[in-house]
Amino acid sequence: MTERIVLAYSGGLDTSVAIGWIGEATGAEVIAVAVDVGQGGESLEDIRQRALACGAVEAYVADARDEFANEYAMPTLKANALYQGHYPLVSAISRPVIVKHLVKAAREFGATTVAHGCTGKGNDQVRFEVGIQTLGPDLKCIAPVRDLALTRDKAIAFAEAKGLPIETTKKNPYSIDQNVWGRAVETGYLEDIWNAPTKDIYDYTATPEFPPAPDEVVISFHQGVPVAIDGVKVSPLQAIQELNRRAGAQGVGRIDVVEDRLVGIKSREIYEAPGAMALITAHKHLEDITIEREQARFKATVSQRWAELVYDGQWFSPLKRSLDAFIEDTQKYVSGDIRMTMHGGQAIVNGRRSETSLYDFDLATYDTGDTFDQSQAKGFIELWGMSSKVASSRDQRVLGQ
Ligand code: ARG
Repeated sequence: MTERIVLAYSGGLDTSVAIGWIGEATGAEVIAVAVDVGQGGESLEDIRQRALACGAVEAYVADARDEFANEYAMPTLKANALYQGHYPLVSAISRPVIVKHLVKAAREFGATTVAHGCTGKGNDQVRFEVGIQTLGPDLKCIAPVRDLALTRDKAIAFAEAKGLPIETTKKNPYSIDQNVWGRAVETGYLEDIWNAPTKDIYDYTATPEFPPAPDEVVISFHQGVPVAIDGVKVSPLQAIQELNRRAGAQGVGRIDVVEDRLVGIKSREIYEAPGAMALITAHKHLEDITIEREQARFKATVSQRWAELVYDGQWFSPLKRSLDAFIEDTQKYVSGDIRMTMHGGQAIVNGRRSETSLYDFDLATYDTGDTFDQSQAKGFIELWGMSSKVASSRDQRVLGQ
């Protein structure tokens, strides 16, 4: 039987050419797999037809938008995950869901190998291949751009020679990856890290310098997940979409960073994640009133580690799973409403309420009704500083000699 290879297919030039390129290089039949994670653009049916026209023997398409929002974006929100304090893991969390579908398609169509269109310099090759090794240990991986010398110029020449139904002249100077959680833009002019991004780079956000009237929004959460916006019930996917629209109109969620790739390169990336950043801001503020201090402090370090693991392609790892269990436990009381004003590129919280809040007005108030016994503070401070005080007197004794 002819060997079969499933290919992660985007519908673009490189992966369209990869169908025939892989076929010629390996003699295998190629099954194109396209996964909708809310990247917008063409319909899945159009992408399916193009894959078949480019020589795929089968095309597997999946609308994974809700799956992506529920099982990948929501854990990221619960973690308030920002890699290096900035990046909400847009591309990093889409790879594992695509991997799931690649492995599923490989089983369905009897494929022995999985192919993806990543280069050998980025994180995504790692995320795809580590994911595939984990979910389908018997499957082999190939990357035509990296392993079969498929360069951009060769792709254009191949598409033209074979008359593939794909645009080869439209020259986009940037490498773009996008889904409902956000958008990532790199390469070209942006590789000079002193160059400010130009307006044409952005798509999910409007220029914050000229914002429309401020937009006040109330986001309701249940156990860490958004369930309503301005009182209207929403699914996680709808919450992200609605806030992409409203926060995006205010220019919220633009990020310009030089980040540390897993492969050891520092690279400049422009992100826009209006919905994600608005949700993370609101969620964090709700945690501030519903999570106990020590648990919250520890969670911040867990979140940072979680973000690093996910960035580094360890979505399916045992440590990531254990951290998920911790994070999930912290979300038990993260329910309530956050009111926030979005304007001029910022989302600023100005009100919070929760049935499960730990904020105690009677303890916090400086007015009448104060139930806090201030006399107890004196002894507490004495003991709290005791060990440093003892060490300091030792230092003075030793150094004074
Ligand atoms: N640097 C980001 C990451 O590794 C995004 C990668 C894809 N970006 C792109 N512009 N093609 O998660």
